[in-house]
Amino acid sequence: MKMATVRALTISTLAIFSIGALAAAQDAPASVSPLFGVALPSGYRDWQVVSVAHEAGDLNDVRAILGNSIAMQAFRTGRRPFPDGTIIARLAWKYESSPRNDAIFGKAQSFVAGAPTNVQIEVKDSRRYAATGGWGYGQFVDGRADPSEALMKTCVTCHSKLPAPDDRIFTSYAP
Ligand code: HEC
Repeated sequence: MKMATVRALTISTLAIFSIGALAAAQDAPASVSPLFGVALPSGYRDWQVVSVAHEAGDLNDVRAILGNSIAMQAFRTGRRPFPDGTIIARLAWKYESSPRNDAIFGKAQSFVAGAPTNVQIEVKDSRRYAATGGWGYGQFVDGRADPSEALMKTCVTCHSKLPAPDDRIFTSYAP
């Protein structure tokens, strides 16, 4: 092969690779939330339990609220506002009856976690998130950040309805 042909081939191969890489980057799951740039914290599934909750109605889910060590310390001592570095995770699953468990009880009374719905994250950084009371938000499905800015605004609107001393956090520590 002539040198020029080799060069042309190399260039076109590179071009194809770059276009491929670009397309992959665009399709890649967003790892951080819009507006806040909040990522799914590594190891959050191993954090300690703050409390649990159940939403009825359309959501019909069961939830666990977990905190990193800074969050746990603040929850246990009732420290408000939460210090910078606090991260709170809210996991949720479909709320489902368990025919298998009911059969053993002999009556319908067992409800368990079904498929996961989404994970919501709150990060305290009083400087970075000064405009939203010090809190940054993110919602994740299958590890991917929901790309909706409008959704992020609902987090702020609803959580900021709480009285100031609650520091925008609904959950209290369940001992
Ligand atoms: C309409 C009101 C409303 C909206 C909108 C809302 N939340 Fe909440 N959030 C609540 C309530 C009430 C709780 C406590 C009970 C529960 O978990 O269901 C809660 C709990 C939480 C918790 C557990 C810690 C805490 O604050 O009590 C996290 C984390 C959280 N929300 C994140 C988010 C994120 C992220 C969004 C936006 C994607 C969001 N929330 C949108 C009402 C709301």
